[in-house]
Amino acid sequence: MRIGVLTGGGDCPGLNAAIRAVVRVATAADDEIVGFHHGWRGVVEGDSGVLTTAETKGILQSGGTILRTARYHPDENEGGTAAVLSTFERDRLDALIVVGGDGTLGSANTLAHLGVPIVGIPKTIDNDVSGTTRCIGFDTAVATAADAIDRVHTTGESHDRVMVVEVMGRTTGWLALSAGIASGADAICLPEEITDLDALAKAIRERHDTGSSSSVVVVAEGAHFLGAIERPSDSMGALVSTELANRTGYETRLTVLGHVQRGGAPTAADRLLATTFGVTAVEAVHARSFNSMVCLLNEQTELTSLDSVARGPRPVPEALLDVARKLTVAC
Ligand code: F6P
Repeated sequence: MRIGVLTGGGDCPGLNAAIRAVVRVATAADDEIVGFHHGWRGVVEGDSGVLTTAETKGILQSGGTILRTARYHPDENEGGTAAVLSTFERDRLDALIVVGGDGTLGSANTLAHLGVPIVGIPKTIDNDVSGTTRCIGFDTAVATAADAIDRVHTTGESHDRVMVVEVMGRTTGWLALSAGIASGADAICLPEEITDLDALAKAIRERHDTGSSSSVVVVAEGAHFLGAIERPSDSMGALVSTELANRTGYETRLTVLGHVQRGGAPTAADRLLATTFGVTAVEAVHARSFNSMVCLLNEQTELTSLDSVARGPRPVPEALLDVARKLTVAC
């Protein structure tokens, strides 16, 4: 078979592990793998190259994606869908493996409904693709963010400061909640919950009145706040930092983790997940189980319908919120 593969949307650690697994398993079965560059844009522009096992040697441990990526959706660009269909014909492809988050997989779903034989693989540090409980890249991002928050803790303690750490997550708070719990944050502000800044400031004052000299507040970039608070032009972290300084009188400092969270080598757990997902995707292609997405459900790697992604971003579960509520002053 001739199988195309692309990585689209924001990058994350583990993409190369998935590419490597796809190429190795497919090549062993005498398939040819065509790697498209810069996500869906490469399919539209016919920008691709054959990937061999030799080219994917030594990439298991590396961050980023050797195929490059782009935030480009063929179904949202004039002529994009037609161009995908013609590349598919011209390159005599039998299937396409699409590694992406909800945007990239949303386009995959649209094209699958137009007859393109597609198998999706979910990846995003946001961990919010519907239909799977885990996405490639999340475990590494949580570890990176938790490590950074640990470091912020010690400097905050030394200076008796309120330390605000902004993490990625525009629509869901998987990363903020998980890294916040894992690093013992004192408060976590999420897109799924509305934080009352007056109540948060009061709770922090109480903490400091009863023996704590510093606090760490983790803020997702898409966090919501009660009242008529204007969305700041810079960041939600900056808003929290300023508002807490005004309300408590304590010295505050802001750290925005930004793209540090998306870079670097994948953890062993992400390598394992990405490799398993890659192998399962090739098996799905061989079984002609198209319009599907590889997923993790109850610790098992399975196939689900690609239509799952249309349900929109998967919010954090109530059970994890409960854990945070028991251990923080605000969540
Ligand atoms: O990969 C998802 C994500 O990390 C979001 O959490 C974040 O808002 C966004 O990407 C940033 O994207 P970009 O790199 O395009 O600025």
